[in-house]
Amino acid sequence: MHRETIAIGADHAGFAMKATLATDLAQMGYDVLDLGTNSEASVDYPDFGFAVGRAVASGEAVRGIVVCGTGIGISIAANRNPHVRAALCTCGLMAGLAREHNDANVLALGSRIIGIETARDCMRQFLSTRYGGDRHAGRVTKLSHIELEIVE
Ligand code: RB5
Repeated sequence: MHRETIAIGADHAGFAMKATLATDLAQMGYDVLDLGTNSEASVDYPDFGFAVGRAVASGEAVRGIVVCGTGIGISIAANRNPHVRAALCTCGLMAGLAREHNDANVLALGSRIIGIETARDCMRQFLSTRYGGDRHAGRVTKLSHIELEIVE
């Protein structure tokens, strides 16, 4: 059976939540590409958001999960890659709709905002919900076209 690879990354604030989610992912049968950080020593969230975004954009991973204190900084970093649609979610409903409506390919979580059970719910919905296409397709395509426009 082909196993899907999920890239996961966090800064120091998200390290503990990332570790738990990575263990869950492995138990769910995914290959986990853990891009760090690997301790609670202070690091910079852009490095890890960018690394996960790059892994998803290159096809090395089918989807990504990023965690920082709020989820904000690391989602901004991931979204700097034009092939990434990172969604910062605080409940499972948001995570499912991010997949269904936005075809989100990276889930961003804030370890200082939500607890681990909510994070797990977000991850489950993010991994199990299919993109709806149809009326959403034109809008998602527009997202890809925006980076082709010159913004001054
Ligand atoms: C780190 O203290 C914190 O700023 C970071 O984890 C995140 O919340 C930034 O958006």
